[in-house]
Amino acid sequence: MSDHSHDNLFAQPLGKVPGFVFDEAVVAVFPDMISRSVPGYATILSHCGELASRYVQPETNCYDLGCSLGATSLAIQSRIEGRQATIVGIDNSQAMLERCTEILQKKHSNTSIKLLHQDISDTEITNASMVVMNFTLQFIPMAQRLDLVEKIYAGLNPGGCLVISEKLRFEPESLNSLLSDLHHRFKRAQGYSSLEISQKRDSIENVLIPETLDTHLERLRACGFQSASPWFQCFNFCSLVAIK
Ligand SMILES: C[S@@+](CC[C@H](N)C(=O)[O-])C[C@H]1O[C@@H](n2cnc3c(N)ncnc32)[C@H](O)[C@@H]1O
Repeated sequence: MSDHSHDNLFAQPLGKVPGFVFDEAVVAVFPDMISRSVPGYATILSHCGELASRYVQPETNCYDLGCSLGATSLAIQSRIEGRQATIVGIDNSQAMLERCTEILQKKHSNTSIKLLHQDISDTEITNASMVVMNFTLQFIPMAQRLDLVEKIYAGLNPGGCLVISEKLRFEPESLNSLLSDLHHRFKRAQGYSSLEISQKRDSIENVLIPETLDTHLERLRACGFQSASPWFQCFNFCSLVAIK
């Protein structure tokens, strides 16, 4: 299988559009899908590496929650060689992890990446100097999000770093529409048709539930993080860094 299969999953009229799932069909096109759908994705990955180089401490754990095909783990791994740190990638999609295992087998590093097939709500976080959730929290049921961030905070060592990258919702609705529209223009410029954009939106609508920037920041502060701020935003996509 090519590493760069073109995403045309929503190119033909689907009638009733099924809810989005991270299955084999999505796995086959995932690198192309995410890089043409998320503005700034490459920048966010490379800066996870940069943050890892500053925050990952020797003999600690670094968690990549919702690791998909390991792109974030690999960006981090390349910046923490020789620290005897362990990267733990977790995902609850078997299809993602099978492909991720194949990708990781081709890479050589003295920093190990362990993969766990698990719901991140069940993951034990211990001795962590860095935790990353790149575009994963938005898929977690709303009622579980506070418990998850509290658990991450408890498992981070003092001075540890949490990165959360998400699609955002804006208020009032007129601003939300503007930023959604700018995102859809971005996708058109990346080669997606209007049909692909509208069918993908219908598919993901009740699966990816975005929150406002204020909601994210308030939750991080309520959990005890000393500081938290967006470090990147493009349209309705944002990456936050929080320090314990
Ligand atoms: C948008 S992708 C993440 C992209 C990835 N972090 C990256 O930077 O390339 C979301 C991932 O989260 C996983 N996921 C969603 N809900 C999950 C859960 N409750 N537990 C574990 N993984 C989950 C999905 O299977 C999917 O692989």
